[in-house]
Amino acid sequence: MSNIIVSPSILSADFVNLERDIKRVEEAGADWVHIDVMDGHFVPNITIGIPVVKAIKRITKLPLDVHLMIENPDKYIVAFAKAGADIITVHYEACKDDLKNVIEMIKACNIKAGVSIKPKTSQEWLTPYLKDIDLALVMTVEPGFGGQEFLHHCAMKIPKIKEQVDDNFIIQVDGGINNITSKICTSLGANSLVAGSYIYGSDDIKHSINCLKNIS
Ligand code: DX5
Ligand code: ZN
Repeated sequence: MSNIIVSPSILSADFVNLERDIKRVEEAGADWVHIDVMDGHFVPNITIGIPVVKAIKRITKLPLDVHLMIENPDKYIVAFAKAGADIITVHYEACKDDLKNVIEMIKACNIKAGVSIKPKTSQEWLTPYLKDIDLALVMTVEPGFGGQEFLHHCAMKIPKIKEQVDDNFIIQVDGGINNITSKICTSLGANSLVAGSYIYGSDDIKHSINCLKNIS
């Protein structure tokens, strides 16, 4: 058994065969399904939205880990929760002064609340909110695209968050995670790993997920 939550990012899946690709990771031992929602404003890319989350909910029992890379997330939280999100993570940079309200909105939907920080944002901004949220997401690439190189300096935020939270708190990393960078992050205190290209680019998905979970 492993206490590392692996959340494959479907951004690297084959969208023509999304059901097949989600079932593949489910059968291979994934814990969550990571869904990257991008609006073309907060990040320079557009991906998927509420109807797709609703459709995915029908074909998997895994919790849906919805990463909102969008401006004004407050406008869409209830809709994503109704569509089936089990965890909603918003970006600190998209909320700033409104973050307390946004967290309350997510919690009012009875789902887990996460807050993410981009590579240039210090983890210090999260401190006032850590007691109210379930998950902190440390981006280890600039959000927007899969397949980018892991930014090592971002991982140094992990222990600084870890020392402020208890063992139930989820510290997730996202971007450039593979069999090597995952070890760096988990040894620093991360307990949830998002991986897109490493998992979906693999010939042996079960083996790759086991590597992330430290099971050999
Ligand atoms: C990037 C997304 C990631 C992305 C990760 O903005 O948030 O979830 O899919 O992709 P890899 O694992 O390929 O870096
Ligand atoms: Zn993501």
